[in-house]
Amino acid sequence: MKIIVTGGSGKLGAVVVGHLRGLGHELVVLDRAGSVKEGIVPVDLTDAGQVLDVVAGFEEHPGRVDAIVHLAAIPAPGMVPDVATFQNNILSTHHVLQAARRAGVRRLVTASSETLLGLPMDVPPPYIPVDEDVTAPNSTYSLVKHLEEQMEIEFCRWDPELSVTALRFSNVMLESDYAGFEAWQDDPTLRKWNLWGYIDARDAADAIAKALEVRGPGFERYVIANADTVMRTPSAELAAAVFPDVPLRKDLQGTETLLSIDKARRDLGWEPQHSWRSA
Ligand SMILES: NC(=O)c1ccc[n+]([C@@H]2O[C@H](COP(=O)([O-])OP(=O)(O)OC[C@H]3O[C@@H](n4cnc5c(N)ncnc54)[C@H](O)[C@@H]3O)[C@@H](O)[C@H]2O)c1
Repeated sequence: MKIIVTGGSGKLGAVVVGHLRGLGHELVVLDRAGSVKEGIVPVDLTDAGQVLDVVAGFEEHPGRVDAIVHLAAIPAPGMVPDVATFQNNILSTHHVLQAARRAGVRRLVTASSETLLGLPMDVPPPYIPVDEDVTAPNSTYSLVKHLEEQMEIEFCRWDPELSVTALRFSNVMLESDYAGFEAWQDDPTLRKWNLWGYIDARDAADAIAKALEVRGPGFERYVIANADTVMRTPSAELAAAVFPDVPLRKDLQGTETLLSIDKARRDLGWEPQHSWRSA
């Protein structure tokens, strides 16, 4: 496929670009932080005209685009003032959806976030493992991710042939991040804010590739986390110690994830291949 990837200069984006190219896809990579020399088209996605121009096929990349992977965003709460996060992220996603609609691109995969599951868990989750049925944004960043998912639902309602997959990524990790996991092992409260989850960027890229391959028309959201936690303490012990009143929906085995990835496994045929334990 010919695929536009937004946010291709970023932590996750760079890995996704490599992964999709490795699968043989032709990419047009957009990022305001990039340059043509690096193979990136510098586009500010908050500018609707620039986005439409690129998605419709501007001179350097003529021809029809088959899909868009939209990753560009300010990627966490607290990095810039909340209003700046709101403006940047909501406008970028709106303009990508709108340009896709105008140009007839009917396959999108977007980066949503685990924050929608109620992070930082100051209020305990309703059940463990938590899944896609929970939507509880507690920051402006997360509120925007919620509004983006909602926009995607409406765009799909307007065009029954449109396919949008929102991937609620856990905390994205590169192999070089894994040495830092040791520092969390003695205190179960340090990473309780996301139920001790993480996602290896290579597994995140694979989830995107699978979503591009298998998803049909309509909107779906998926939690994308690794199969294990960031801890050596068994997951049942962590849950009992930190969230003693939260009902468990299954017998937790070993260090298995408390962010349910059952839906992604079932629908996308995706299975995380990496773990910090073997790095
Ligand atoms: N990093 C995480 O732990 C995490 C977890 C869940 C979801 N996500 C989501 O995944 C996506 C990628 O995150 P990341 O960690 O790679 O972030 P990152 O900051 O490393 O990369 C994001 C890229 O988007 C670009 N960008 C931002 N606004 C733009 C705009 N208006 N126009 C053009 N480019 C713009 C930036 O220049 C940057 O290169 C984001 O949507 C983020 O919200 C990240």
